[in-house]
Amino acid sequence: MSAPDSMQAYYNARAPHMAKGLATPPAGQLLEIVTALRAESAGRAVLEIACGTGYWTRFVAPGASEMMATDFSEEMLAIAQGQQIERARFQREDAYALAGVREGRFDFGFAMHWVSHIPLARWGEFFTVFHARLKPGARVLLADDIRRPDDADPYYSKLATHDSYEIRRLPEGGTYEIVKTYFTSEELQELLRPYAENLVIRYERPRWWLTYVVKN
Ligand SMILES: C[S@@+](CC[C@H](N)C(=O)[O-])C[C@H]1O[C@@H](n2cnc3c(N)ncnc32)[C@H](O)[C@@H]1O
Repeated sequence: MSAPDSMQAYYNARAPHMAKGLATPPAGQLLEIVTALRAESAGRAVLEIACGTGYWTRFVAPGASEMMATDFSEEMLAIAQGQQIERARFQREDAYALAGVREGRFDFGFAMHWVSHIPLARWGEFFTVFHARLKPGARVLLADDIRRPDDADPYYSKLATHDSYEIRRLPEGGTYEIVKTYFTSEELQELLRPYAENLVIRYERPRWWLTYVVKN
């Protein structure tokens, strides 16, 4: 199984496990990010990439003027749709193509715990496709994990791709190799430099989060 297929299989199988997290109200840093997401999205047309179970969608959609939340996994989307979130429209989309999403339509875009899964060779492909769906001057919020010192998941790089990988296991016994890059703040600045203006990075465990304006 190639790396992208393994990742999709992993998230399809993990969807019911992630659904349990919906019951936990956000606190601490999660609440800080939810507050920022609400402020950025209020009254705006919003596009979410890799929405998963809709954990974040539910805090954003009710205050947006419109909200399209996308993911590749039907299993994830079924859970997200089951929440019946006001104003949220869920659509199955590959983040590298967004073929069913009109260009130049959204004022604000966000992706949570997604960019760490982008192989470095596909970074430009993703951001070009994503930003094309946003209006000129649109704002973006991204967030993802900082590696925990006590993280027990096997973590390694491959010379062939220069990507980092983790082996993830699920309670049913499945084992999956997924791309997972724990970016430093400097790497994020370097990678986003071609696309981002007014980049502000908050780098604090357990996750970094950042905002920027898309360069015209
Ligand atoms: C770590 S989960 C994050 C889910 C959600 N954003 C959250 O923070 O709870 C990564 C998500 O990426 C989705 N995904 C994987 N490959 C994708 C692709 N090519 N296009 C769109 N979504 C994809 C998975 O189905 C999964 O829902």
